[in-house]
Amino acid sequence: ASGLRIAPSILSADFSRLGEEVRAIQAAGADLIHFDVMDNHYVPNLTMGPMVCEAIRPHVTIPIDVHLMVEPVDALIPLFAKAGANIITFHPEASRHVDRTLSLIREHGCRAGLVFNPATPLDVLDYVMDKLDIILLMGVNPGFGGQKFIPSTLTKLKAVRARIDAHVAAGGQDIWLEVDGGVKVDNIHAIQRAGADTFVAGSAVFGAPDADQGYRTIMQQLRT
Ligand code: DX5
Ligand code: ZN
Repeated sequence: ASGLRIAPSILSADFSRLGEEVRAIQAAGADLIHFDVMDNHYVPNLTMGPMVCEAIRPHVTIPIDVHLMVEPVDALIPLFAKAGANIITFHPEASRHVDRTLSLIREHGCRAGLVFNPATPLDVLDYVMDKLDIILLMGVNPGFGGQKFIPSTLTKLKAVRARIDAHVAAGGQDIWLEVDGGVKVDNIHAIQRAGADTFVAGSAVFGAPDADQGYRTIMQQLRT
């Protein structure tokens, strides 16, 4: 299905063989690599930084979608840009100057996005639509893979879809609408119908006995 993208999250991959894992998922047809950065401050977990991004970069050609669950944000942007990130998203409440942080991401040659937790209001969108390449809605509270999708995300998705469509109708740039957390074979189609075009899937892909198979199974739901 054109215009639809799957972004496997390597949070659920085998960290002892990340190079092989990302190569395999690109070969399976993945559109993006979703890269979860957690700092044990903004979220209660600790994952990986720019050095790991740099290490996997030579193994794939598809874009690396860096999801920053860190506070503060700005100092990491040049480091991730240098490490080969293509998309950088952050949570608005984790940056003191959201407009500046969005500019900083684009100035470093990356596509910029904001991430909204399940209970974070969308108000900031009133002021920064022109600076966004992507909007990411969390389907879970951030910090861990393998959590259950929070159903109110569907209502929020429809609201963001309407905002993006109105923005484009008024001559604005297109903005991807990504969903992250709890995306599975049994709900991805409903999430698509609510307006998403980009789907992060961690445990659904890398938790499957074979990541290739996990990817294909979930991708097939988008084609129906
Ligand atoms: C959660 C991360 C997600 C996570 C999703 O805080 O941002 O990207 O990897 O994992 P699943 O798909 O298993 O919910
Ligand atoms: Zn994520």
